[in-house]
Amino acid sequence: MVKKEKITALSIIKKQNISALTAYDYPIAKLLDESGIDIILVGDSLGNVMLGYRNTIPVTMTEMIIHTQAVSRAVNRALVVADLPFGSYQKGTKEALSNAIDLVKAGAEAVKLEGAEYLDEVKSMIRAGIPVMGHLGFTPQSVNKLGHKLQDVSVRDAKKLEAAGCFAVVLEMVPPDTAQKITKALKIPTIGIGSGPHCDGQILVTYDMIGLYPNPPKFVRKYADLSSDITKAVKNFIADVRAA
Ligand code: KIV
Repeated sequence: MVKKEKITALSIIKKQNISALTAYDYPIAKLLDESGIDIILVGDSLGNVMLGYRNTIPVTMTEMIIHTQAVSRAVNRALVVADLPFGSYQKGTKEALSNAIDLVKAGAEAVKLEGAEYLDEVKSMIRAGIPVMGHLGFTPQSVNKLGHKLQDVSVRDAKKLEAAGCFAVVLEMVPPDTAQKITKALKIPTIGIGSGPHCDGQILVTYDMIGLYPNPPKFVRKYADLSSDITKAVKNFIADVRAA
């Protein structure tokens, strides 16, 4: 039986074994929520996964708002976190806060941004009542600078985000021993993706783990193969129509 109490940013701070997945639309968000997931991230990975962009860089605030609205309509229990897309928080505190407010008005209960460079922006959001999740390691919006590979992260950067008021921090493609060191050093939870087993929680892109996205990262465990199921169903439908 799935426990029903609403998950909040405050309750996440005290939690271990946090489960998190991405959703970009109403039906998937509803399935995740009803299955008991703790956090649903409306990730800017929707750029690659839903919209066919080569990376997350082209994703706009308008796209994030539409998908955040769809997800938030489906969710009763999980904490809904929305990504601030590339360009929405790099141009100054005022614009960053305004964009974070727009995501909250669209239904997000917290926002996520990448890197340890935007501490004034993080603080202004928290001052305005918006919980903020950090994201360190491989930060996809900086793919042109970093390349797509394992990234070392300093405990110092993680502590900066904690001191600025973040309620959790995603560690993406960080060496597992570094992720363990950061997890031990922080009071707020770490949520790992491709960063080994020692984080306080784990997040995956749902379409990767259910076999719907053609190029998932190597570290992803596949829990279902929906591409095969859909192809089979469509072929059966075509055969039925042709046989009628
Ligand atoms: O956009 C996203 O889906 C993410 C996760 C990979 C953490 O940021």
